[in-house]
Amino acid sequence: MGIFKKQPTAPQVDFTCLPRHIAIILDGNGRWAKQRGLPRTAGHGVGAETVRRIANYCKDIGIDYLTLYAFSTENWKRPDDEVSTLMTLFEQYVTESIGVIERDGIRMDFFGDLEGLSPKLQGMMDDARKKSAGHDGCQLNLCINYGGRDEILRAARRYAEEYRAGTAPELTEAVFSGYLYSAGIPDPDLIIRTSGEQRLSNFLPWQGAYSELYFTDVLWPDFSERDMDAAIAEFQRRDRRFGAISSK
Ligand code: IPE
Ligand code: IPE
Ligand code: MG
Repeated sequence: MGIFKKQPTAPQVDFTCLPRHIAIILDGNGRWAKQRGLPRTAGHGVGAETVRRIANYCKDIGIDYLTLYAFSTENWKRPDDEVSTLMTLFEQYVTESIGVIERDGIRMDFFGDLEGLSPKLQGMMDDARKKSAGHDGCQLNLCINYGGRDEILRAARRYAEEYRAGTAPELTEAVFSGYLYSAGIPDPDLIIRTSGEQRLSNFLPWQGAYSELYFTDVLWPDFSERDMDAAIAEFQRRDRRFGAISSK
């Protein structure tokens, strides 16, 4: 008698009611490399490939907004060579994206304190943003030098300036949201974090107030389209109440 290994069942995703906005804390590149006796930077290289694959997948299945946390305001604490490898990978990714923006019809935006980045990278980001502004496909938001607290402070400072100048509108949640990097974009429905860590690490504290959180042990370089399906399927089983009572 043969031994049959049970095939994992495909996650049951309802592609007709997908989350509009998915945000991902892509984590575990360093551990992925360490497990293979490779330098951490090798993990970031493979992680960049995963970004390409997953961004394409989200575009193809019809996700409206994908927000990726790639470098935090705290990640400058890492060794110089790791930071510079990451910056080079960002430059490569943005250059490459500019080349396919027309073909793919995507919009690109960047969340974070961009002035802390090299003028070269800032220029590329500007280019990508401008070239893609008129498109109505999936919007990819890349968070680089992003910190949620920093974002809120900046928004508060900008509002305070307008207030002093007498030009500020009355402050409401909706108005304040308009001062954040994510102005005009719906809050993330689903926030995914890879690598088994169960924390937000300063990611979207305002926008994620009612996001569904999904944690997986899969390390980011290994994260597959199937893993994305599993996250979406789990999201679709959740009962989002927003403080009210169940509608299910
Ligand atoms: C995520 O992987 C990428 C960045 C935060 C830039 P890590 O580099 O944090 O990988 P681990 O957590 O050390 O495994
Ligand atoms: C969060 O990952 C930041 C990004 C994914 C860009 P970290 O690896 O920096 O977070 P901690 O240090 O484990 O909280
Ligand atoms: Mg990490």
